[in-house]
Amino acid sequence: MSSKEVRKKFLKFFEDRKHTVVDSSSLIPTDPSVLLTTAGVQQFIKYYTGEADPIKDFKSENTVSIQKSFRTSDIEEIGDTSHLTFFEMLGNFSFGGYFKKEAIEYAYEFITKDLSLEISYVTVFKGSHGVQKDEESRRIWNSLGISDVREEGIEDVFWGPTGNSGPCGPTTEIYCKDSSGEDIEVWNIVFNEYFFPGSREELISEEPAKKLEKLEIPGVDTGMGFERLMMVIDGVDSVYKTDLLLPIIEKIDLLAPSLDIRIKRIFADHIRASVFLIADGVRPLNKEAGYILRRLLRRVIALQIKYDVHPDLFTEVVPVISSKFDGVYKNLKDTSAILLVMEEEKKRFKTAIGRGLRELSKYKKLTAKDAFSLYESYGLPFELIKEVAPVEVVGNLTKEDFEKEFKKHQEISRAGVEKKFGGHGLILDTGELKAGDKNELEKVVRLHTATHLLQSAIRRVLGEDVRQRGSDITTERTRFDFTFPRKVTDEELKEIEDVVNGAIRKDMAVHFIELPLDEAKDKGALYVESAKYPAKVKVYYTGDSIDAAFSKEICGGPHVSRTGAIGKFVIKKEKAVSAGIRRIRATVL
Ligand code: ALA
Repeated sequence: MSSKEVRKKFLKFFEDRKHTVVDSSSLIPTDPSVLLTTAGVQQFIKYYTGEADPIKDFKSENTVSIQKSFRTSDIEEIGDTSHLTFFEMLGNFSFGGYFKKEAIEYAYEFITKDLSLEISYVTVFKGSHGVQKDEESRRIWNSLGISDVREEGIEDVFWGPTGNSGPCGPTTEIYCKDSSGEDIEVWNIVFNEYFFPGSREELISEEPAKKLEKLEIPGVDTGMGFERLMMVIDGVDSVYKTDLLLPIIEKIDLLAPSLDIRIKRIFADHIRASVFLIADGVRPLNKEAGYILRRLLRRVIALQIKYDVHPDLFTEVVPVISSKFDGVYKNLKDTSAILLVMEEEKKRFKTAIGRGLRELSKYKKLTAKDAFSLYESYGLPFELIKEVAPVEVVGNLTKEDFEKEFKKHQEISRAGVEKKFGGHGLILDTGELKAGDKNELEKVVRLHTATHLLQSAIRRVLGEDVRQRGSDITTERTRFDFTFPRKVTDEELKEIEDVVNGAIRKDMAVHFIELPLDEAKDKGALYVESAKYPAKVKVYYTGDSIDAAFSKEICGGPHVSRTGAIGKFVIKKEKAVSAGIRRIRATVL
């Protein structure tokens, strides 16, 4: 059976049973607490909670969809036979229309009759967290002739919530045998009976502080991973052999016939996922969904360089993906627009790391120190070094040792700025601030001085007991961690922001003097308790004299020469990092 037939069958099956067919939503979800769409249920959450009315929107209490989905949790497994980052999910949903009996009977009928598959066993919830054992589902399965019903716990057979809070409930899963006789999960049927006012991590913790609340009307949410289902239907031993991915693999085969199969699969998964992310408007960036796209593309490019794969990899493979899925999903027709994003990222990445890769290829054996130096000088991330260098060179290298090097470096550089001018690499890297070009340098320097003013303002508003616990500055924002026992109120945040902007408006001079460490501390210069400082340090202060300064800190710099250069200071967010430690994110405009 082709994937096209299965798509049609699935939608028709539920349409015939009074479900409205709803298009897949975008991979970028509307819930800002969730990075990407991970399941079909996401676009329907408001119908379970009663915030929206399904009859008004769909003319039915039941819907069916095939949803584009993306999960990063398995990103390291890609290359084996079954894991994927991007996948499609077939699902039927009900918001008060039907519950356990129909949901299980529909699934049973579709799997055993329409797809002619044999159910190997099913699971039900064994009960915990104040939720009873799911005897009802067991009885329904038994009535259908399924006697192998296995009980499992909250980690495996209880779904949700997807975001910071939301609907959730016990599930029953259907397992079928794959071509090697292994049981694999094909369908997950969720009974959304509850609402949890916290995250999934909080829910499944041993003693959650919050309680499950009953939803007024219980609902159904189901999900069937399409690629794995096709693998079972086709009786093949890999998702890459189903027609959803095979044409992509075949194209890669033509370009690089002798390439290791694992790498071919990484290419197929990552390029396909990137195409769908780009089609939904994601662009390569250093944060959030953009960072995921960047990581996928850069991994492909690095492997392409390492294995000397045909430079037309993207150009050849993207049209295969487009013709396979155009018509099923939106924005996939214009392959040149998609390719443009990929090729630009390739250029950017190659300029950034080309030299680093050449440098890396000179090593016979790489120590953690060497790896750090490659990272520092050429921006080669640790994972990439591990990925692209031969085993003989990096086999013994561990992330732990690399991080030790990183820490050592941070301690040294906190005490004194290191400027790396030259044609390549970072022009500024103090551990706390990084800048790759003049514009970035200008921005991080403004943010750096703003961070000093921020610390001073926090201590004025919240008290002198506040101590800095860390800070990190990117071109987008400053992130400042400090000791404080409770949430900072909105009024206090506003006041802190006003104090900083007041100091900016006064356009104070920023100076430094060099002092012996003890003397600097005696003068009241702030410092980070855990940091190691040299015997002689610089103290940066704002105002005309160090004794009457608005702020003074032991610091390597660099800073703006007058506070007026900072611009407008805006606090974006305040939150807890851990017990007694708060974090403020702020930026300058
Ligand atoms: N939302 C459920 C899942 O994704 C069906 O497994």
